Amino acid sequence: MAGMVEVKHLTKYYGNFLAIENVSFEVKKGEIVGFLGPNGAGKTTTMRIITGFLPPSSGTAAVAGYDLVDKSRQARAHIGYLPETVPLYTDMTVEGYLSFMGTIRGMNPKRIKARIADVIDSCRLGDYRKSDIGKLSKGFRQRVGIAQAVLHEPDVLILDEPTIGIDPIQVVETRALIKDLAGTHTVILSTHILPEVSMLCSRVLIINEGLIVAEDTPKELANRLQGVERLEVEIQGPRIEVMGVLEKIRGVLEVACSPNGSDQNVYKIQARRGLDLRPTVSRAVISNGWSLLNLQLVSMSLEEIFLKLTTSEEINV
Ligand SMILES: Nc1ncnc2c1ncn2[C@@H]1O[C@H](COP(=O)(O)OP(=O)(O)OP(=O)(O)O)[C@@H](O)[C@H]1O
Ligand SMILES: [Mg+2]
Repeated sequence: MAGMVEVKHLTKYYGNFLAIENVSFEVKKGEIVGFLGPNGAGKTTTMRIITGFLPPSSGTAAVAGYDLVDKSRQARAHIGYLPETVPLYTDMTVEGYLSFMGTIRGMNPKRIKARIADVIDSCRLGDYRKSDIGKLSKGFRQRVGIAQAVLHEPDVLILDEPTIGIDPIQVVETRALIKDLAGTHTVILSTHILPEVSMLCSRVLIINEGLIVAEDTPKELANRLQGVERLEVEIQGPRIEVMGVLEKIRGVLEVACSPNGSDQNVYKIQARRGLDLRPTVSRAVISNGWSLLNLQLVSMSLEEIFLKLTTSEEINV
C-alpha cells in the first residue's frame, strides 16, 4: 500500500530564501514519525505544506492519496493539524469553539455533538467544557488544540511541537495523550526534544537547514551513527605527557581533556569503530607509572548524535 503521507521533492522558497530543499519522505499507516531539527530547520514549513496551508514552490505532498494542491479539500478531510500557535478564540468556551470548528469543516450538527463528547473525554477536558478558552492554562489550551485536530476523525495527525511551552506535568500528560491517539492515527510530530522522540516515535526524520539529513528508528540511528568508540579515562599523571602518550596509541583519533589544575584528569578518547582500546590504554598508563583511576566505554546519546548530524560538515549516513 502507498504511504499515508507521501512527500516528494518538496522545495519552498520564501522570496529568495530557500527554506526547504528537495524534501522527500513517506509515512505508512499507523506510524508515528518524529520530525526533529533545530530552530529554523524547516519543520513548520514542511508541515504547513503537508496540511495545505502553504503551497510548495516545487514538489508534491499527498495525504491518503490526495494531493494537497489538486485535491486540497479531500486531503484536508484526512488531516488533523495542531499548528505551532493554535489560533484559539479566547472568548469562546471549549465546547463552543469545538462546535465552531466542526461547523466550518462541514460536519453535520449531530456528528459534531457526538464527536465533541468523544474528544472532550479523550483529551480529558471534561471539567473545562464550559470554560472560556482565554482562562485556560497553556497546557489545557494545547489539549483544546489537539481536540480540534482530532474532531473530524482524520487518519493523519500533524502536530507541530505539541509540548512546547507547557509545564512538566502537562508535558507528561500531553505525551500520554499523543501516545493514546497514536493507536488509531498516523502521526507526524515535530520537536526539538530528543527524549520525546525516543518515547513516542517509531521513526525519526532529522531535518537541518531545509534538508533531511537522516532517517531511521531512534535506536538504529543511535547504532548507525556511532562511527567511533569512545572511552573516558581518569588518570593521575602529568597532563601534557599523558595526552602525548594517549594520542600516540594506535587507533586513537582524538583525545580531549579539560584541565582542572591538578594532575588527576578525565580524558575523553575517540577511537576507530570496532576497536576496544581498554587493554592498550590501561597498559600504557601503568607502564608510564601513572595511576588508572577509572576507565569506561561511553556510548553516544541521541543528543550527541543529533548535534553531530546538525553541526558536522561531513554528513554521510
Ligand atoms: N513566512 C516566512 N517568510 C520568510 N521566511 C520564513 C517564513 N517562515 C519561515 N521562514 C524561514 O524559513 C526557515 C524555516 O522556518 P520554519 O519555521 O519552517 O523552521 P522550524 O524548523 O519550524 O523552526 P522552529 O523550530 O523555530 O519552529 C527559517 O529560516 C525561517 O526564518
Ligand atoms: Mg517551527
